Amino acid sequence: MSVSTPTRIRVGSGQVGDAAGPNSYDVVVGSGLLGELPGLLAGARRVLVVHPRALRTTGEAIRADLLEQGYEAVLAEVPDGEDAKNSQVAAFCWGVLGQAGFTRSDAVVGVGGGSTTDLAGFVAATWLRGVRVIQVPTTLLAMVDAAVGGKTGVNTAEGKNLVGSFHPPGGVLCDLATLATLPRNDLVAGLAEVVKTGFIADPRILELVEADPGLATDPASPVLRELIERSIAVKARVVTEDLKESSLREILNYGHTFAHAVEQVERYSWRHGAAVSVGMIYAAELGRLAGRTPEALVDRHRAVLGSLGLPLTYRGDRWDALLTAMRRDKKTRGDLLRFIVLEDVGRPARLEGPDPALLVSAYGEVSP
Ligand SMILES: NC(=O)c1ccc[n+]([C@@H]2O[C@H](COP(=O)([O-])OP(=O)(O)OC[C@H]3O[C@@H](n4cnc5c(N)ncnc54)[C@H](O)[C@@H]3O)[C@@H](O)[C@H]2O)c1
Repeated sequence: MSVSTPTRIRVGSGQVGDAAGPNSYDVVVGSGLLGELPGLLAGARRVLVVHPRALRTTGEAIRADLLEQGYEAVLAEVPDGEDAKNSQVAAFCWGVLGQAGFTRSDAVVGVGGGSTTDLAGFVAATWLRGVRVIQVPTTLLAMVDAAVGGKTGVNTAEGKNLVGSFHPPGGVLCDLATLATLPRNDLVAGLAEVVKTGFIADPRILELVEADPGLATDPASPVLRELIERSIAVKARVVTEDLKESSLREILNYGHTFAHAVEQVERYSWRHGAAVSVGMIYAAELGRLAGRTPEALVDRHRAVLGSLGLPLTYRGDRWDALLTAMRRDKKTRGDLLRFIVLEDVGRPARLEGPDPALLVSAYGEVSP
């Protein structure tokens, strides 16, 4: 595979079998993809480029390119990371759109990590009841997860992602060159989601990491590129069949029930990927205790995640808070806790309402 040839992964609209309908789109993976942007703007005349402070240079370069091509391009610089995901920052963006006279045929481009693409997607979903959004993710997590699949949203004082909408993008451009400036801890955290897609659907991902974890964490390596493409392909397959998380999409939540609880208890000071790493080990141990997950597969979780430097344990004195948080999780139906467990690599299954004693024992297995 030539490094310069972009790879295109098709994402369908969420209706079974619809990989080529009017709401389907391509996720393009490669280097130097700016030239692809005009082709995705579908006749827009005005373009709002939303970017965080840390990516000012990238935002300005995109704007300059669009201006050169005859677009009216406007920048909305927003705070870095999670600080941008709230209604005040969304209102700031709506103000910019209103002042520049954006119409329903104009477009928004989200450039940044998952916080920025979630915000930009939400702004696009709500402006005039929905305008086109093109996502340009610049973190590994946003490339393989946040920017793909059409979930958008902001946080409120009461919790994360409580306000939002499903608004699939018109296209996603994953420019691998942007990963060069990403702090290593963010890259490694993003790999937790990559490993997750390996466990639920693509054994080759696990083999690639096991063969050389060093290459998996090197932004310039073709191994990382293959991991990203494979991981996006898994997500694309799942959301093509189930946009709104009615059933199949739940498998993407592997490890997430426990992970979200850890994030909440730690007041979001943990990176999402780090929490997902421990969350997968929790789910694997729970699956083993419930007689569903083979022991060797649990060991494989620790080996793969550990080789990337991801955390494998969580402090042992937080059970009550974790359980309360798990019960409050959006994915919980009624009072029944639901987990995805693995019967094998690529064979996810549901575990509903497990015996509370198993939940506590699995916690014991992930605390040092
Ligand atoms: N919509 C979804 O389906 C979905 C899925 C998973 C996660 N998310 C959301 O994604 C968010 C987390 O996203 P994230 O992990 O990408 O982090 P982030 O967007 O919060 O970015 C982390 C930091 O990295 C900076 N940054 C981004 N790209 C950079 C680059 N190339 N070089 C240097 N710095 C860069 C950002 O400005 C920020 O300071 C959370 O809000 C989460 O809820 C959404």
